[in-house]
Amino acid sequence: MTARILDGVRIGKEIRGEVAAAVARMAGKGRKPGLAVVIVGDDPASRVYVRSKGRACLEAGMHSETVEYPATVTQDELLAQIDRLNADPAIHGMLVQLPLPKHIDTDAVLRRIDPAKDVDGFHPVNVGKLVIGDPTAFRPATPYGVQQMLIREGIETKGAHAVIIGRSTIVGKPMAGLLLHDAPGGNATVTVCHSRSRDLPSIARTADILVVAIGKPEFVTADMVRPGAVVIDVGINRVNDASHPKGYRLVGDVAYAPVAEVASAITPVPGGVGPMTIAMLLRNTLQAAEQAGR
Ligand code: GUN
Repeated sequence: MTARILDGVRIGKEIRGEVAAAVARMAGKGRKPGLAVVIVGDDPASRVYVRSKGRACLEAGMHSETVEYPATVTQDELLAQIDRLNADPAIHGMLVQLPLPKHIDTDAVLRRIDPAKDVDGFHPVNVGKLVIGDPTAFRPATPYGVQQMLIREGIETKGAHAVIIGRSTIVGKPMAGLLLHDAPGGNATVTVCHSRSRDLPSIARTADILVVAIGKPEFVTADMVRPGAVVIDVGINRVNDASHPKGYRLVGDVAYAPVAEVASAITPVPGGVGPMTIAMLLRNTLQAAEQAGR
C-alpha cells in the first residue's frame, strides 16, 4: 500500500480563507480581530514562527502586533506588558512565544494572560474547559489542527482506536481530550503512550489513528504501524545531513518513506501538521473576537 498524503498546506489555506471571509463580514460591522504576539530573545526558529504568525494575521484581514524583548527582559516587565495587552480593546488574542529564557517563570507568565484572550489555550482555565468539553475553550492550535485534518479528510474517528505517542501539555494531552469528546472529530477510544510506556511498539500497532508527538527524529518505524492505519506526524526535527545545502534536513517523528508503504494516509514533514497550526491560531483569534462581542 502507498499512503494517501494529507496536505496541510491545502487544508490550512482552506481554513485561512474561511477565517478571512468571516473577518471581512466583521469588518462590515466595524469590527476587526487583533492578535498580539510577544517574543523574548533571538532564537531563530521562534523568530521565523512569529513572523509567519504576524503575516498570516494581516493576510486574513486582522490587526497584528508583535512585541519584542531581549533575552534580558525581567519577569516584571513581561507581566506588565501582558497586563497592558489584557486591557487593550484592539487586542482580542495574545500569545507569548515559547520557550522563554530560564530566569522567567513560564507558568506565571501564561497564567497572567486573560483566559478570554488566551488563543494558545495554555491558561489553566482553558485547559480545564477543554477537558470538560466547554465549546468556549481555546483549543491549542496543534492538536486542533490535527483534528481538523482528520475531519476534512473524511477520516472517521468515531469508534476508532487513536493512539497518541507523547503526553505534552501543548500536544499529547489536549489531543487526547479532543479525540475523546462526544463531538465531530471525537468519539475515539484513546490511548496515550510516553517514554515510560511498556512495549510501546505493540500498543502503537493497535492504532487505527496514530498521532506522534514525541520529538524524536524518525522514532516510529514501519513495524510499529498496522497496515492501513492513518499516521499523523506532529514532529519537526533537524538532523545533520552534509549532502544538503544547509547542512541539515527536516524530518518528523515518523520514518516517512517506509511508514508510507504501510499506512493508508500520512502527513508529510514539512507540509503536514505545521501549516495547520497557524490556520488554527487565526481561527482561535476570530473565536476570541466573536466571544468578546467587539
Ligand atoms: N512554541 C512552539 N509551539 C508553540 C505554540 O504553539 N505556542 C507558543 N506560544 N509557543 C510555541
